[in-house]
Amino acid sequence: MKDDLQQRIEEAVKNPRNLGEMDDADAIGTVGSPDCGDMLRMWIKFKDKDGEKIIDRATFQSFGCQTAIAVASVATEMLRGKTAAEAKTMSGEELAAPLGALPPVKIHCANLVEGALRSALSGEAGAAGEKVPAGSTLLGNINAGQASERKVKVVIN
Ligand code: FES
Repeated sequence: MKDDLQQRIEEAVKNPRNLGEMDDADAIGTVGSPDCGDMLRMWIKFKDKDGEKIIDRATFQSFGCQTAIAVASVATEMLRGKTAAEAKTMSGEELAAPLGALPPVKIHCANLVEGALRSALSGEAGAAGEKVPAGSTLLGNINAGQASERKVKVVIN
C-alpha cells in the first residue's frame, strides 16, 4: 500500500496546478539540479494590493521527477498573495509542506522549486522588469541552446 506522501504526490502530478508558461510574466527563473539533471522554470506575475506588490499568479514547467512537479504545484498555489520579500524567505521544505515531510533523498526536488523561485525573485534570470521573451518555454530554450550558464542557475544542495 502506498504511503500518504506518495499518494499526495501522485494526486498533484495527476492534476497539477498552475502548470504552463505565462505570457505576461513579470519575473522568470530557471534552475537545473546537478544531482539528477532535472530542470524547472517558474513564472511570476505581480499585482498591487493596498500599495504593496504581491504575487498574483505563479506558474511552472518542469523536466523533473514527480516530486518536483508536485512541490511546484502546491508551491505555486501557496505563493499567491505573498509579497516578494515573503516568498524569498520560503525554503524548499516550506514550499513542499502541503505534501508532508519529504524523505532526505527527495529534498533536492523541493530545493529545485525553491531555486527557481529565488532565481525569479532575485533578478538573475529574466527578472522583474526584464522583458520575458515571447514563447519562452523551457523546452524551447533548451532546444535553442539558451539554457546556458546565464539563464540556468544550478542549485547546489
Ligand atoms: Fe531530480 Fe526530483 S529527482 S528533481
